[in-house]
Amino acid sequence: MTKNIGILTAGGDSPGLNAAIRAAGKAAEGSFDMRVIGFRDGFRGLMENRWLRLDGVSLSGILTVGGTILGTSRDKPDQMAVGTQVLDMTDVMLANYHSHHLDGLLCLGGGGTQKSALLLANKGMNIITLPKTIDNDVAMTDVSVGFDTALGVATEAVDRLHSTAHSHHRIVVVEIMGHNAGWLALGAGLAGGADVILIPEIPYELDKVCEAILRRSHGGKGFSIVAVAEGAMSCQLAEAVEAAQKKLKSAKSPKKQQKAAARLEEIEAARVGHTVQLSRQLEELTGLEARVTILGYLQRGGTPSAADRLLATRLGTACTALINEGMFGVMVGARGEGSEPVPLEQVAGRRKTVPPDHPWIGSARRVGTCFGD
Ligand code: F6P
Repeated sequence: MTKNIGILTAGGDSPGLNAAIRAAGKAAEGSFDMRVIGFRDGFRGLMENRWLRLDGVSLSGILTVGGTILGTSRDKPDQMAVGTQVLDMTDVMLANYHSHHLDGLLCLGGGGTQKSALLLANKGMNIITLPKTIDNDVAMTDVSVGFDTALGVATEAVDRLHSTAHSHHRIVVVEIMGHNAGWLALGAGLAGGADVILIPEIPYELDKVCEAILRRSHGGKGFSIVAVAEGAMSCQLAEAVEAAQKKLKSAKSPKKQQKAAARLEEIEAARVGHTVQLSRQLEELTGLEARVTILGYLQRGGTPSAADRLLATRLGTACTALINEGMFGVMVGARGEGSEPVPLEQVAGRRKTVPPDHPWIGSARRVGTCFGD
């Protein structure tokens, strides 16, 4: 009997999503004779039953296209904004899932999506997921779809910033995405030869950063490139966050919980504009001119790299093969040259950050990169 499967993309978009949709959809239709539909805008489309048929025609010509043809959103199934309310809509989603007689639902997404997927799997849906995020912070996979492309874009940006920083004898502070993980900033900083790399996993001391920049300046190098992860924190800020998190964890009464949560929010708010503030501080403390470049969404847009197309195709086709075998409740992670199904319980709620002994950090230190520690 023909199997019916659904596909959705959730969370921030990333290059290679269309390649993954194409791979999963074409393998489903061509190799396993399945009927495929796509839900629009992530879990919102599943809730509102907005969908389209994915067939040979709609899946054609999208391999190299950035973004996602399905659209995406950051909605969570159990906290959906509906009118003025925030509601748990998992039952509505389950009903829509059944109304299409689906045998399985493939969710392409990052950390948040893995959590939502587990929620729906526990509701009784046959769920399988594929890791995608430019942040590369999904647990239990070597790498996520989109990371390689974003790494290439950020590295090229660091390359380009070098010549202008050099010409003007300036400090250029470049902010690189990655949420609370430093993979992108570390990778692009190392590949682009940044002089200072600041990542959330290694809280920095401003003095140490200034010292490194002044050492370069005294040595005749009047410019410096500082690659900053958007989640990077000074030691002071890291301590404040840790203390607030501890308080929140140990708070017994709702009043104390509220207070601790408000303090955490306050700290988060103070982080907005962190890179601009850092640049000003560096200018003041070193006496050198400084400029800021925030790469932002440039890192997420556009054509996926060859490596991301290969990864998306490898994982997308593996997902379909597993659906055909009836294996659900797993994320198909990248493992070496192949792939491996990992139970969603082992993925959801976990984040893959840069370990302090990661070879990239060791190599960067050996070529004289300052981490501000
Ligand atoms: O998760 C991908 C990412 O681009 C992060 O690097 C960044 O912190 C976040 O999404 C931005 O989120 P939004 O698209 O909601 O602005």
